[in-house]
Amino acid sequence: MTLQIKSFEEYQKAYQNSVADPEAFWAEQAETFTWKKKWDKVLDWDFKGPDVKWFVNGKMNITENCLDRHLAERGDQVALLWEPNDPSDEVRSFTYKELYAEVCKAANALKANGIEKGDRVCFYMPMVPELAIAVLACARIGAIHSVVFAGFSAHALADRIKDATCKMVICSDFNNRGTKHIPVKKVVDDALAMDCDSIETVLVYKNGDEQVPMQEGRDKWWHDEVNGQSPECEATEMDSEDMLFILYTSGSTGKPKGVVHTCGGYMVYTCYSFRNVFQYQDGDVYWCTADIGWITGHSYIVYGPLLAGATTMMFEGVPTYPDAGRFWEVCDKHKVNQFYTAPTAIRALIAQGDEWVDKYDLSSLTVLGSVGEPINEEAWQWYYKKVGRERCPIVDTWWQTETGAIMISGLGDHSPMKPAHAGYPLPGIQPCLMNAEGEELEGNDIEGLLCIKYPWPSILRTTYGDHERCRQTYFSAFADMYFTGDGARRDKDGMYRIIGRVDDVINVSGHRMGTAEVENAINEHSMVVESAVVGYPHDIKGQGIYAYIITNGPVDDEDEFRKEVLKVVTEEIGPIAKPDRIQVVSGLPKTRSGKIMRRILRKVASGDMANLGDTSTLLNPEVVEEIKTGAEELR
Ligand code: WTA
Repeated sequence: MTLQIKSFEEYQKAYQNSVADPEAFWAEQAETFTWKKKWDKVLDWDFKGPDVKWFVNGKMNITENCLDRHLAERGDQVALLWEPNDPSDEVRSFTYKELYAEVCKAANALKANGIEKGDRVCFYMPMVPELAIAVLACARIGAIHSVVFAGFSAHALADRIKDATCKMVICSDFNNRGTKHIPVKKVVDDALAMDCDSIETVLVYKNGDEQVPMQEGRDKWWHDEVNGQSPECEATEMDSEDMLFILYTSGSTGKPKGVVHTCGGYMVYTCYSFRNVFQYQDGDVYWCTADIGWITGHSYIVYGPLLAGATTMMFEGVPTYPDAGRFWEVCDKHKVNQFYTAPTAIRALIAQGDEWVDKYDLSSLTVLGSVGEPINEEAWQWYYKKVGRERCPIVDTWWQTETGAIMISGLGDHSPMKPAHAGYPLPGIQPCLMNAEGEELEGNDIEGLLCIKYPWPSILRTTYGDHERCRQTYFSAFADMYFTGDGARRDKDGMYRIIGRVDDVINVSGHRMGTAEVENAINEHSMVVESAVVGYPHDIKGQGIYAYIITNGPVDDEDEFRKEVLKVVTEEIGPIAKPDRIQVVSGLPKTRSGKIMRRILRKVASGDMANLGDTSTLLNPEVVEEIKTGAEELR
């Protein structure tokens, strides 16, 4: 089993070893897994291409490591525990033996439907066990999964299906979230009507009682295809560097890109980081509240915990249904030991009052995790005092879709803790801070652009179908460095505090959004000539979306216009991208070269109007006053 660090001294030693001899360090970790053929070389790398290969020529299958390898020792232990949306519905659970059988059956069903190694399979699923099962079934036969969060619109889904030329979609008929029963098969049908020619089959998991239209020859019921399949399916031999999955994420320009992760390195590092950050002990129940549609769900609901032989819980619902005590009720009910959630959820629950958390027995909790956005001090203190009852360490885990797994974080109880600080890098991770001139900032008590100067096993390998974009986005800003897009501070003790994105990406409720993406959606409205989107501080969401819009004529009814804009954005991307504030303006502040001065727009949006800096170099300084007045009226 993967090494587990047991003290801060052990961490320091492991860290030093990992930097002094990274290959020896990671070889030792990799040895603990099942390989069909051992690697020839631990690492081959060059950040110029980029071209990074871990465990070169190693052959394996990640599901053999998630499932088969645990059967002898923990076959009857619960692998996957499922808590339904409706608390009166039955909990479902799968032991390692049962999960193994279900994954094999699903893998055989995929094969029977023509899915082969290397084919892309798109997911648009609720948080039900069949999602995890089908993801693993893909990995079992070497098909590449591309999970799309089921809150995205038909348009966004179609874009992702086409970009990866997926052969199959796996979806449900309905999704249950809180009081909502959402007809999602319809979204898939709408998406497929948008020239998704590569799709041959749609597998539909039945999650409701109502009828849904099924297209003859294309649409098939999950249960018809899976039931009756053999519970044995040999794991396809994969090269360490074969693709495991694609996950789309937003950047500062253009459409979302498909981040590609490969099999070997991702396996070694997700397991290593899971074991160490959460300090999982045999018999514990671990719960991550993320959706599998995001990287957190991939690495820390499915792969990391199962690789480590853990009991991982999946939750179908939302934190406030049937009431604001649901998270704590579930922790109490299942005696959860490690709990991992996002600051936005914590802030939303703080606003509901302490009585919801006070009434539950949370004595089983040992480690509390935070992910997705900076956790503000107030939320940190509440999490620590109210949820952890001042007994549990908080691990503030900084990482990204592109990093595949946690990069900077405390390790359970074994690291010093400081509110709102992610802390120290995990063994094997070599962060550094750069200035805009491309110089590395040495020493402590400094702030700069966060980069990583050495590869780690789960680094992204490419962006699907466009390697040059990967190079441009992550490896061109600084020579021989991976650039994260985040700004950070290293304090006097060498602990990292993440400040936030320095590019045109905003983080809304822990969801990444490109401002350009939202602008493109808004511009689809027939009255919109130009728009500019910025983030602004939001009490619950962390950042809210603020849109400035120029229209092609006077707007008679601004409320009606705003509603229409929200509708367009919902259709183009999904409800998560809806602007919180929309301001109609006659112009946007521009430099003489025609670039929008976002700095000014950000300040106005955050209400910081007294301090706009020098506006005299603008092409149109007069619009600034108008924008300020309009913003005051909106507030
Ligand atoms: C932000 C989510 C501060 C950061 C795993 C990063 C954080 C982006 C933290 C990646 C944290 C994530 N503290 N900021 N603990 N974790 N972020 O790809 O800006 O959805 O670049 O991955 O979220 O978001 P993504």
